[in-house]
Amino acid sequence: MQLFLDGSDINKIRKYCELGLIDGVTTNPSIILKSGKNMIEVISELAGIVSGSVSAEVSALDSDTMVQEGIKLAEIAENVTVKLPITWDGLKACKTLSNKGISVNMTLCFSSSQALLAAKAGAEYVSPFIGRLDDLNLEGIDLISDIKLIYSNYKFSTKILAASIRTVNHVKQCACFGADVATIPLDIFEKLVKHPLTDSGLSQFTADWEKTGQSII
Ligand code: G3P
Repeated sequence: MQLFLDGSDINKIRKYCELGLIDGVTTNPSIILKSGKNMIEVISELAGIVSGSVSAEVSALDSDTMVQEGIKLAEIAENVTVKLPITWDGLKACKTLSNKGISVNMTLCFSSSQALLAAKAGAEYVSPFIGRLDDLNLEGIDLISDIKLIYSNYKFSTKILAASIRTVNHVKQCACFGADVATIPLDIFEKLVKHPLTDSGLSQFTADWEKTGQSII
């Protein structure tokens, strides 16, 4: 499973990219607002840090303007992926941009039927928002499972990019159910490595090693 970061914190994203653990980044208008920066500047900076896909979302609601915005966003860098909402206009724009060779991420996906249409429209990625479904006491992970089955039945190449991830357990579930990508907020990503038994076990090993009086180098 590829791991993307969902956010725009340049320094933290650079840190984890340098570890070789990050395959891409996703943004959306709310993330851009939170950054307090110009969108084009943020996307340009992120595209220079991350070797993989960087998702940048259009603001338009009509397909013609979505296409214009998508072309401009794609011109920022070759690894920019254009994010489009799953609406009829978004699907039409997806067809046009995909046919131009531009990578598209169909976002705000909450149903299997939407994911089916995204694949038919030629999207490189579809973003099911599992956290927001959980917020409604629906099982967001079931959507990942259903899309995985549909895509494998018909050998669609569209990649499932699990989004709206709220917990470490969401990441585990996405991996278990075969999502191609999980886009993870930084605070959740930083929890992935933590376990109290690892901490306590390492403390004990360190203490016992010191008692040996030995050194390796
Ligand atoms: O990439 C989509 C993600 O940022 C949405 O997350 O927590 O606002 O549902 P959330």
